[in-house]
Amino acid sequence: MTEPPAHGSVALREFTEADIRLARELGQDPYIPLIGKLPARPTRQEAEVWVRRQQSARAEGRGFAFVISANETAVGTIGLWLRKLSEGIGIVGYSISPEQRRRGFATDALKAITPFAWTVTGIERIELYIEPWNRGSVRAAEKAGYRNEGLLPAHHEIGGVLRDMLLYVSP
Ligand SMILES: CC(C)(COP(=O)(O)OP(=O)(O)OC[C@H]1O[C@@H](n2cnc3c(N)ncnc32)[C@H](O)[C@@H]1OP(=O)(O)O)[C@@H](O)C(=O)NCCC(=O)NCCS
Repeated sequence: MTEPPAHGSVALREFTEADIRLARELGQDPYIPLIGKLPARPTRQEAEVWVRRQQSARAEGRGFAFVISANETAVGTIGLWLRKLSEGIGIVGYSISPEQRRRGFATDALKAITPFAWTVTGIERIELYIEPWNRGSVRAAEKAGYRNEGLLPAHHEIGGVLRDMLLYVSP
């Protein structure tokens, strides 16, 4: 990576130990722990383990995990995940701290990570998987130019239940 990805109000940067606080904020949300590896209401130690996992993603070839920073404050996280790289696909996922929402940060982070994703060798398509009720995520995807490719019935197990997912694809 030559320059850290940025767009509008946000810059994307790598995780540091100070982001344990961000992890603990994200873990207060009822949904975020269901869609990733962050435990619900994590202890400091659980949050630290999760931050380390984000930090090792790149070296382990799992993907690229970024902190979304706005005015030097960590407001959320966005990742480019490579589990479907053998099919030419990168999968993007994102979360914003509950108290930082509806300020355009998810949209700007998505606009920042998309050109970065195109620089990753082997990526020919970028996908987002969004539950239909998740209006904020759908709007952020659409505002970043992603296209709805339709509903995938019972596609992801989230919270022990197979849930329908909308598939959004990069412009
Ligand atoms: C979904 C999420 C990432 C949105 O983050 P955000 O920073 O608030 O999103 P933005 O501020 O960029 O908002 C994008 C658009 O969605 C709208 N929006 C945001 N939250 C909304 C909500 N709960 N209901 C309806 N619209 C919403 C915004 O108003 C904006 O639209 P506008 O510009 O037309 O007004 C955030 O709510 C979150 O982290 N949720 C929990 C984790 C999650 O769902 N991650 C995504 C999994 S696919």
